[in-house]
Amino acid sequence: MKISDFRAYKAALKKISMVTCYDYTSAMILNSSQIDCVLVGDSAAMTMHGHDSTLPISVEQMSQHTAAVKRGAPSKFIVGDLPFLSYRKSLSENVEAAGEIMRAGAQSVKLEGARGNLELIRHLVNSGIPVMGHLGLTPQSIHQIGGFKVQGKLPPDAEVILDDSLALQKAGCFALVLECVPQALAQKISEALEIPTIGIGAGVGCDGQVLVWQDLLGMNPNFKPKFLRKYADLHQVIQAALNAYDQDVKGLKFPSKEESY
Ligand code: KIV
Repeated sequence: MKISDFRAYKAALKKISMVTCYDYTSAMILNSSQIDCVLVGDSAAMTMHGHDSTLPISVEQMSQHTAAVKRGAPSKFIVGDLPFLSYRKSLSENVEAAGEIMRAGAQSVKLEGARGNLELIRHLVNSGIPVMGHLGLTPQSIHQIGGFKVQGKLPPDAEVILDDSLALQKAGCFALVLECVPQALAQKISEALEIPTIGIGAGVGCDGQVLVWQDLLGMNPNFKPKFLRKYADLHQVIQAALNAYDQDVKGLKFPSKEESY
């Protein structure tokens, strides 16, 4: 997939599949799949580093995750997240943060929210950096929002999200993530925009869907939000493999003669 395909998919009513990824080995698997594009999300702060929000991750860490994913999935379109506050500084610092993610191997960056970001988005786009927007539940604002909860349920809040999505399109975003908004609102926004929407917890009316790698593969049995479908139970698969190895080691069944020099 390349940048022009995002609008082309939407025009052809072809849905976009996106998944997050943060490391080389997973990216290698992803590269051999039919998934359209990959997000090196700042959710890495939670899934890879064990934090309880996305706030602690730095531009340097995001660059390292992006570079690892690029090495593993060189043929996929990569979106790299700009982390918390990295794009809320001076214009030159914001551009430098985006440049670092791009130099690490991303083909575009994603940032959260519209208000206060529109000038930067125009500047990045005019500098050759494609920008993906992100509205609805914006995890970098979790302390402002007051928790991981559905956004835009009340008509005035829904109106703000719709207005912001139009503003992001006008500023030059090539696609928009809609996170945890009612299905009807996501559908309305998707119909109002020429750029594709990519939903997570936003219903089937979006132009594409994104899920977090660990969630879609069932790696964390304790995480089960309503919107999530687990396509595997890797927690169980990996745990069983580890226990089988443990038993073999302790029972002198591993390594065998054939597995020894
Ligand atoms: O960081 C992330 O994983 C994201 C997705 C939830 C869209 O932004």
